[in-house]
Parts: sequence; C-alpha cells; structure tokens
Amino acid sequence: MSVGHPDAILATGGGGQLGHHLARSAGARAGARAGARVVALGRRELDLTDPGSIAAALDRHRPRVVINAAAYTDVDGAESDEAAARAVNAAGAGSLGLACRDRGIRLIHLSTDYVFSGEVPGGGDPATAPGVEPDDPTGPATAYGRTKLAGELAVLAAHPEATVIRTAWVYTGPGRRGQGLSGSDFVDTMARLEGQRDTVSVVDDQWGSPTHAPTLAAAILEMVALEADGAVDTRGLVLHAAGSGRATWCEVARRTFAHLGADPDRVTPCTTADFPRPAPRPAFSVLSGRSWEDAGLAPLPDWGESLRAALASAPGVVGAASSSSPLR
Ligand SMILES: NC(=O)c1ccc[n+]([C@@H]2O[C@H](COP(=O)([O-])OP(=O)(O)OC[C@H]3O[C@@H](n4cnc5c(N)ncnc54)[C@H](OP(=O)(O)O)[C@@H]3O)[C@@H](O)[C@H]2O)c1
Repeated sequence: MSVGHPDAILATGGGGQLGHHLARSAGARAGARAGARVVALGRRELDLTDPGSIAAALDRHRPRVVINAAAYTDVDGAESDEAAARAVNAAGAGSLGLACRDRGIRLIHLSTDYVFSGEVPGGGDPATAPGVEPDDPTGPATAYGRTKLAGELAVLAAHPEATVIRTAWVYTGPGRRGQGLSGSDFVDTMARLEGQRDTVSVVDDQWGSPTHAPTLAAAILEMVALEADGAVDTRGLVLHAAGSGRATWCEVARRTFAHLGADPDRVTPCTTADFPRPAPRPAFSVLSGRSWEDAGLAPLPDWGESLRAALASAPGVVGAASSSSPLR
C-alpha cells in the first residue's frame, strides 16, 4: 500500500459535470491545506470498466482520496442497454472500490436520488412531505437507478470505509459552454429555450432537489478538508447532498426565466403523462439534508439562491436578461 501526496485528490469522470467542477473548485481553494489539488481524469485515462486502467491510474497518481464522479448517466439510454450502464455504474464502481481499498485510498462515491421509487413517503403531499433519508427503503424504477443502487452496494462491499453521496437534479447552467463542458443540462436548456420560443411546457408533477454542480463540488471538497483535519468522519456512511428546499421542474424553469428577465408565465405547467420517456421519472425524489448536517457538514444553500447565483455569473446571460424580446 502506498499513498502519495497528502493533499492529492483524484476525481474520475473528469470530462463530466461534477468531475469538471471538482477540479475547478479545487483550483479556487488553492492554498487550503486539503482539497487544494484535484486531478480529474477522463475516461481515456481511467476507464471504470477496465480494472487495469483503474490500477494504472491509481498507481500513477497515488492519490489520498478518490472521488468517483464517473457514471453512465444516460437515464433513457440505460433502459435499452442496462448491461452497459451496469458495467460502469455497478461493476466498474465495485472495481474502483477494490482497487482503492487495496491501496488504502479513501473513496467517495457519487450516487443518485433515482435509487428511490419516487413515491411520496406515506403517500402525502409532495409539496410538504419530508424529504427522503438515506436509510429509507430504496426501490429504483429505472435501469439507471438499479445500476446505481447496485454500484452503492458494490462499493461498500469492496470498501466498507467508502462514503456514498447521493445527489439529485445536478446542473451547471448556461455558463457550462464557456467552461468547455459538452452536452447540456436542464437550466442550460431552459435558458436556451427562453431565447428561442414564446412558451415552453415543463412538467409540474415531479418534485426534487435542484443542485448546482459547482456548489456540490465545493461541499464535497469541504467534507474532504474537514476529514483531513479530523473534524468529521463520514467513513462507511451513505449521505444525501443536494440543494436545500424543493421544486418541480416547472418551478425551476420559471425561476430561470425570471432570473433572465423574462416572463415566467411563458413557462406553462404540464404533467409527466404529457411527456412520456423511456425511463419513468420519479414523481418525488426530494433528498433530506439531515444526514449531511448530522455528519457535521454545512447544509447546501437553498436551490433558488444557487440558481440565482449560477445565472448571474454565467457569461452572456446578463445581456440576454436585459432583452425583453420573447423571441431571438
Ligand atoms: N447529473 C445529474 O442530474 C445527477 C443526478 C443525481 C446523481 N448524479 C450522479 O452524480 C455523478 C456525476 O454526474 P455528472 O452530472 O457529472 O455526470 P456526467 O456529466 O454525465 O459525467 C459523467 C462522466 O462519466 C464518464 N464515464 C462514463 N463511462 C465511464 C467509464 N467507463 N469510465 C470512466 N468514466 C466514464 C463520462 O465520460 P464520457 O464523457 O466519455 O461519456 C462523463 O464524463 C454520477 O455518479 C451521477 O450518477 C448525477
């Protein structure tokens, strides 16, 4: 067993949203004792489906901590190719767990609200029902959720001192393009559609915890730093880390429009039944922040506050906000 630089953190999924923000956020923390250096590796440098690639990357970088932000995240695609999703999210995560345990490396593994069934606890009102806790019964309704739940179990079986962090509804927003992130996310898409369409229909019967990716990355790095100081100990825990509060997708879209200076009533509510998808989306996956706070960690900010900040800081968006033209 050999562990390298005491501050070294390796993030998998470096080309993805969270991996990118872990590296970026670490740069902003430079000078802090821990969490100051994150090496974020893309799939070509560390392929979770290839144990040889995992071993080579760990032996080359010799991190103290690994944050597994890599995953097969195509929720609809997983419905038609669950084996591919399982190879990454379950078998791959388990291989990483073994490799980290064998080398004495701390492992933090990211998981998802989709491990839950989506039913409102107790059948109550989704607007007021308590958020889901880590030890509430799981019951994924999608192939993606099944593979992610299998991944949690595989990681903890291989490396009982690993920490599983479930998050939800992760977005970067329109700033993502300027940061070289490919693809899109919900807030980015809504900001784009605000400039392209008179009205947009968005589902208003799915409740969740919108989570700003840079905020989540910073919270995870803070957790790592506090652990290095001995202030907290999350080994072996399953935690929920997501934006505080709750919203429907429609509410997120409306707030996005409002922050862009557009009329939020241009976002019209619709139901899940109006937009059938290959993978059924959970009706309720609000994650309670209690486990995070019980571990001694600061709650993530209110989702609406993070959204406002994300849109205010996105290059080019303020200019768009000052235009009241509904179609550009
Ligand atoms: N995004 C959300 O709304 C959300 C919600 C809840 C939980 N999560 C969880 O949060 C974590 C981070 O998600 P994210 O939003 O950052 O996802 P993302 O943007 O889709 O990034 C995932 C990354 O994983 C990489 N990857 C895929 N297969 C791989 C493999 N075999 N080996 C190594 N890397 C591989 C992808 O590489 P390529 O680009 O090459 O495909 C991609 O860069 C994941 O565990 C996800 O399940 C996300």
